[in-house]
Amino acid sequence: MKLRNQCLVFVCLFMLSSYSLKKEKSYTVSLKDVFKDEFYIGTALSADQIEEKAPKEDSLIRKEFNAITAENIMKSMFVHPQKDKYDFSLADKFVAYGKKNKMFVHGHTLIWHSQLAPWMRKIKDSVEMKAFMKDHINTIVSRYKGRIGSWDVVNEALNEDGTLRKSVFFNTMGDKYLVDAFKLAAKADPKAELYYNDYNIEEPVKRAGAINLIKKIKAGGGKIDGVGIQGHWRLNSPSLNEIEQSILDYSALGLKVAFTELDITVLPNPGDLRGADVNQNFQGNKKMNPYPNGLPDSIQNKLANRYESLFRLFLKHKDKISRVTFWGVHDGQSWLNDWPIKGRTNYPLLFDANLKQKKAYQSITNL
Ligand code: G3I
Repeated sequence: MKLRNQCLVFVCLFMLSSYSLKKEKSYTVSLKDVFKDEFYIGTALSADQIEEKAPKEDSLIRKEFNAITAENIMKSMFVHPQKDKYDFSLADKFVAYGKKNKMFVHGHTLIWHSQLAPWMRKIKDSVEMKAFMKDHINTIVSRYKGRIGSWDVVNEALNEDGTLRKSVFFNTMGDKYLVDAFKLAAKADPKAELYYNDYNIEEPVKRAGAINLIKKIKAGGGKIDGVGIQGHWRLNSPSLNEIEQSILDYSALGLKVAFTELDITVLPNPGDLRGADVNQNFQGNKKMNPYPNGLPDSIQNKLANRYESLFRLFLKHKDKISRVTFWGVHDGQSWLNDWPIKGRTNYPLLFDANLKQKKAYQSITNL
């Protein structure tokens, strides 16, 4: 009898201690620690987050992420508003924030057709464009030499069919602007890693275009270290096969692969709209905004499963992947609440608008 009681006490003690260990684990676990031996786990920061305006968000960012990208403030219209005027006030804070918190800092973005300052759109010929690119890239990259670890040198240069977009860069310089941009960035900071970044480049036709573009940059003597697959995805597409084939194809070119702007929309999109072209906007109605008051469990589970299978794939190819960055910290701040229809309620990230972990968070940290 005495022995039986002793055994019972022992079993109870064992259960109690493993329960408190588990509790402890779920409290201390963080994305960056879970994946620390595999790849950086990053987030995009808004201007308010860079300025540490919300203490709760700030401590969440510091707990969960070890890499940061500025969601908007390093884009051309903000840092280079006039030909002879740069404004680095927020960009400096962003880089200092990364240093203070020992985070990997990624620069987004140097050459992009969108969010340009109005004066840049008026550049008419190749002489003017070359002078602009030299000044723009050299001034920005040199300023953060040794402090920004990698750059999106060129962003979204491709159309969906894999041809080159007729941007102001292409219209003035033809495809030569691509090689020039990578050469200028490498000259300004030879140690920074240089990326080509785009959406939908896991899809076969656009992927073929991206592979051509990368080969062209290399053939022209440009230094390119990686490709950024943005990852603005949906619950059911793109397929894991397409994503896996992209990881293999890009790394076969000797490049690192980063998932740079990951989020998963749970809302219906007009037609079969895919991607992240911010110029596409549509009128909404109730049918297009089905979850204004919360996400049903069934969809929450689908989102968790989708994230789980993506991260399983990322782990399988961890030797080829440098970074996985989410496009925002929490659902409340996501650009997907306003694209492609304004004013909807979307749930694309791992934390809800109250900063609470979602099931998707558990599904990937449990891996
Ligand atoms: O700066 C103005 C502000 O003065 C004004 O009060 C406010 C009113 O709406 O608008 C502010 O500008 C907004 C800007 O974000 C900064 O907050 C623009 O309207 C808004 O369109 C813009 O959207 C950004 C979008 O890029 C623009 O191209 C999104 O936040 C940002 O998430 C998104 O990020 C892009 C990546 O850079 C590249 N890949 C695709 C991705 C999603 O589109």
